[in-house]
Amino acid sequence: MNFYVSPSKLKDSEISVPGDKSISHRALIFSAIADGVSHFTGFLSSNDCLATLEAFVKMGVKIEHNDTDLIVHGVGLMGLKKSTTPIDLGNSGTAVRLLTGLLSAQKFDSVLIGDSSLSKRPMSRIIRPLKEMGAEIESCSGCLPIILMGNKNISSILYEMPLASAQVKSSILLASLYANGETTIIEPNITRDHSERMLRVMKCSILNRDNKIIMKQPEKLQSLDMQIPGDFSSAAFLIAAFLISTKSSLILRDIGINSTRIGFLTIIKQMGAKIELSNIRSFGNEPVADIHLESSRLQGIDIDNPDLVSLSIDEFPIIFILAAYADGITRISGIDELRYKESDRIKTMCEGMQNLGVSVKEQKHGVTIANSKFNGGEVDSYGDHRIAMSFAVAAIGANNAIKIKDIENIDTSFPGFVNLMQGIGVAISIQEPNERQAL
Ligand code: S3P
Repeated sequence: MNFYVSPSKLKDSEISVPGDKSISHRALIFSAIADGVSHFTGFLSSNDCLATLEAFVKMGVKIEHNDTDLIVHGVGLMGLKKSTTPIDLGNSGTAVRLLTGLLSAQKFDSVLIGDSSLSKRPMSRIIRPLKEMGAEIESCSGCLPIILMGNKNISSILYEMPLASAQVKSSILLASLYANGETTIIEPNITRDHSERMLRVMKCSILNRDNKIIMKQPEKLQSLDMQIPGDFSSAAFLIAAFLISTKSSLILRDIGINSTRIGFLTIIKQMGAKIELSNIRSFGNEPVADIHLESSRLQGIDIDNPDLVSLSIDEFPIIFILAAYADGITRISGIDELRYKESDRIKTMCEGMQNLGVSVKEQKHGVTIANSKFNGGEVDSYGDHRIAMSFAVAAIGANNAIKIKDIENIDTSFPGFVNLMQGIGVAISIQEPNERQAL
């Protein structure tokens, strides 16, 4: 499937976006092993989160799911059952990395598989610390499939992470729920702390002190009720669309503004975005706000602070687009981690932007982008949802229509993207290649 997006004038809008993907995964995982019944609203019914849901159903957890409403009947820390078939986690890096941590500490064996993109992504980053904790894991040269042997002897760990990754941190925390004593994790840079926040609400003793996380083994996890905030990473596409549009304004309601997620806000403010937060409050242990913004003239900047990079890790594809719309030059460095996402995001973004006439130079660890007009044309998203959505936004102010190929995976994070974009005035449609019309 492809997107066909034409240059568009946006309408002043007030909208919300689907629930946070990271929090939805954690809601399922932690409540499945809690004591008692947990209730969630605002759950993200995307393919990634549904893969996690299916995994727990296979392991004997009763889950009532109706679109954004979720009721999870927790089975307790020791209550999961062996899945009789391999657990397929589709496209989801978060699901596979977090479940590897959890399942490495169960008494039964498990096999984890995924789609072709997930099967190429590195898993040694989690396998290494989990093996140090005593887990018995086999993989295909550090990639899927992962085979986890039943284990009763997981030990706590003091682990200094060589790279900043909330998935690695959360994987270790999940295994540590089954380890006697205290686990300490030291991060090179602070990463999203949704696991720690949720565990704390569930009465697990866990502290975040600067770059250090210290967790004590809990006897049990308490069930919880929570409204899941709108996903800031999904909101970022809409924010970018309005920033580059002419004379229009947007209000986004109920968006998660956890400080470990909003590096994008800092970056666009430095670029000159007219954006404000209001109605700041909490859903569970997560801060949320309404976001107000208007079309803004942007200025190129240098982004080289590793702390800021890990706080905006999923937003770089759309930051690349904003950089092309901004006056002057934007230089971004220290973003190597982007090469290990659903695609090599530095490479796929640079290739697509060059195809559309943007002045962009790929470097080993980053990119330099000069103010450019996007021409119409064709780009390949290589099955990466965030690349596809970034180019859909780029087309709003382009000279001509843009065709974006291989967009099926949009539903991994942002179901309803097309309807939302059409609602704000974007001329976007999806057609099968054989029904393709001339651009
Ligand atoms: C996520 C962490 C990030 C992010 C991913 C979701 C999570 O990955 O890119 O989309 O939910 O923990 P890393 O922690 O590996 O950077």
